Amino acid sequence: GYPVGEPDALLSLSVGTDDLLKQIDELAAFSDTPAPSVTRVIYTDKDVAARRYVKNLMKGAGLSVREDAVGNIFGRWVGSEPDLPAVATGSHMDAIPYSGKYDGVVGVLGAIEAINVLRRYGFKPKRSLEIVLFTSEEPTRFGISCLGSRLLAGSEELLKSLKSTVDAQNISFLDAARYAGYAQDQDDISSVVLKKGTYASFVELHIEQGPILEEEGTSIGIVTAIAAPASIKVDFEGGGGHAGAVLMPNRNDAGLAAAELALAVEKHVLESGSIDTVGTVGILDLHPGAINSIPSKAHLEIDTRDIDEGRRNEVIKKIHQSAFRIANNRGVKLSEFKIVNQDPPALSDESIIRAMEIASTELNLSRKLMISRAYHDSLFMARISPMGMIFIPCYKGYSHKPEEYSSMEDIANGVKAYYLA
Ligand code: GLV
Ligand code: MN
Ligand code: MN
Ligand code: MN
Repeated sequence: GYPVGEPDALLSLSVGTDDLLKQIDELAAFSDTPAPSVTRVIYTDKDVAARRYVKNLMKGAGLSVREDAVGNIFGRWVGSEPDLPAVATGSHMDAIPYSGKYDGVVGVLGAIEAINVLRRYGFKPKRSLEIVLFTSEEPTRFGISCLGSRLLAGSEELLKSLKSTVDAQNISFLDAARYAGYAQDQDDISSVVLKKGTYASFVELHIEQGPILEEEGTSIGIVTAIAAPASIKVDFEGGGGHAGAVLMPNRNDAGLAAAELALAVEKHVLESGSIDTVGTVGILDLHPGAINSIPSKAHLEIDTRDIDEGRRNEVIKKIHQSAFRIANNRGVKLSEFKIVNQDPPALSDESIIRAMEIASTELNLSRKLMISRAYHDSLFMARISPMGMIFIPCYKGYSHKPEEYSSMEDIANGVKAYYLA
């Protein structure tokens, strides 16, 4: 709503697209791989530098900045009634290896620009407005997605497991966080948890990461629900041995067990009969990784999702059964089958959907109600706040690769829809 001034004046305001374009490019330069790819992994030097950059932008927008013990960053514009629950927005800026510069970033830099627009307009918020930059939406380093928002929403399981979580280099989560300036001794990770009701609403702006909006020429996607994600880690152990000397009948090849399981994942996903069920083996590591050595260990990580939680759980059950059967048939050991997360889907709040419909009508923008097949920090914010998401089109639906692209016009439309809603 508009507490001051004329809605028409707000409608005619323009988004600072030049600044926003420049900021997206500057932020993309904090990367461990060369442009156009972006790789920005949590608590690395590049991540710390990018955080500094964003905190400066927040301060430049007049926000007061707070960081919690895991590095969730909060930029607050204090309202005239500061005791009321704030209206919040935000997203992430960590980038998986060799990805693009828009995933997450649009929702962070776009939100800061939305604040700048509102300030230029002379808007005086009643409720405080808060931008949240979430720590580690991507599971790249510590294997768990939406780490920051999962904690904010009070995941006891994660609070417990983080005490013993390590990365692939065996660096503990706590040491990595300390390296980046967080989780200092006096900081108890459980202090991160937000009380339900802290926010009156939470809205995330994000690129669609799918092709629908662009194909249909629709400007704005209004998310009605976020699909239910799960991830699983599997280890097989076999006998290994010499690739020439051990004859085929005498092998217990852990690598072939993994290959067979990867195909079983595809089969079980397709058996669901629904286009909405998906499964991916994105990590497959063989040990010792030599051409002339039979793999003695194989490690897989499996991502599976569905808008229907029960159907996704059925797929997980079948994958588990296949892992047992394959190990048995091949005489290898299934040394680990760990469900890392098995999250329910989340529904957007009806009143936020309505507000976004009204905003898109006022802006004369075409819109589509749609589900999000990707997960987002909003999945967890929905546990403690009414939640909504705005999608903008992206080139051919590309995401999680360097070709990811959204036009400034589409980004600006998203920013407008956000501040109007
Ligand atoms: C998040 O990046 C996802 O995989 O949906
Ligand atoms: Mn992503
Ligand atoms: Mn994202
Ligand atoms: Mn995501």
